[in-house]
Amino acid sequence: MKKSKIIGTGSFLPEKIVTNADLEKILDTSDQWIRERTGIRERRVAHDDETGSDMAEIAAQRAMKAAGVDPQEIGLIVVGTTTPDVVFPSSACLLQARLSLPDCGAMDVNAACSGFMYALSIADKYIRCGDVKKALVIGFDKLTSMLDWNDRGTAVLFADGAGAVVLEAADEPGILSTHIHAAGRHSDLLGVDVGVGVGFKEEKRGGVRIKMKGNEVFKVAVRTLGRIVDETLEHNNMDKSDLDWLIPHQANYRIITATAKKLGLTMDQVVVTVDRHGNTSAASVPLALDEAIRSGKVKRGDLLLLEAFGGGFTWASALIRY
Ligand code: ACO
Repeated sequence: MKKSKIIGTGSFLPEKIVTNADLEKILDTSDQWIRERTGIRERRVAHDDETGSDMAEIAAQRAMKAAGVDPQEIGLIVVGTTTPDVVFPSSACLLQARLSLPDCGAMDVNAACSGFMYALSIADKYIRCGDVKKALVIGFDKLTSMLDWNDRGTAVLFADGAGAVVLEAADEPGILSTHIHAAGRHSDLLGVDVGVGVGFKEEKRGGVRIKMKGNEVFKVAVRTLGRIVDETLEHNNMDKSDLDWLIPHQANYRIITATAKKLGLTMDQVVVTVDRHGNTSAASVPLALDEAIRSGKVKRGDLLLLEAFGGGFTWASALIRY
């Protein structure tokens, strides 16, 4: 059976930087509170007319360039996002056309912050079963378009961005395993409770706005991520001491350090971007991965553990021999 290997990564962040000092001017918050409770110093915010697929297109072009792959070679595109430009066509179809990919399969996955990890898992399976030789996997979100800038519980956290990887079939892994989970029973703790089915009426539900019971989400996230890293290592008969890098979802520095501590890793072995990126949802893990690879931190042969947790709840992981 074939395995899949990451042969190129790319990412994109909007130009506009919003610092904690900027948020102090519009919200009852402080730089100190945001830094101490989340680890965030600044985040990137897309312009009103800059869509998620605008960001994703650039991230994907960079990933294909890094991989040395012609768009016509791509056999599948899977996109993790919760903020598509339009209801349909899917972001994957829009990007397939914009990137001049062939008439390959194209699909979106909605798993909130775990969207990229879910997309990676699906693409990996298509490569393993032999149906696809090269796949483009993208995670993007423009969560600021769903933010209530008067809600200090969410406005300080979320941000915009995109990341992408190109996978290729190989005899040696590559991706050793992926794991996906969900628990829909917690849907009341984090979500955007409007949509095509229930309607978008402002007076009814307050508009297209993220609502989160942050403290309760925090507790489930720490517990759940602790469990999935164990599951991932056990599945591969590996020990936490085998790991070179943890590349976690960038939601909160305190959640990241709790996972690192459980794995016995020093913070030097953890890729952290939350201080500069905030929580970019489905873009968070591929952005961190791309930054770590391009900076030379992550080297070929290193063992990487990727994980994410998000609305749904959803959570996912991947163990990768880079
Ligand atoms: N500035 C100042 N004070 C604030 C702010 C703020 N921005 N936000 C909340 N507070 C206050 C609260 O009102 C509360 O005040 P009180 O004690 O007087 O009632 C106090 O700070 C503590 O509030 P908590 O919510 O208990 O703070 P906590 O330490 O839990 O931090 C946070 C909040 C940062 C949201 C944290 O809970 C968190 O990171 N949660 C997880 C988020 C996450 O991982 N989401 C999943 C992925 S996102 C996705 O899928 C889209």
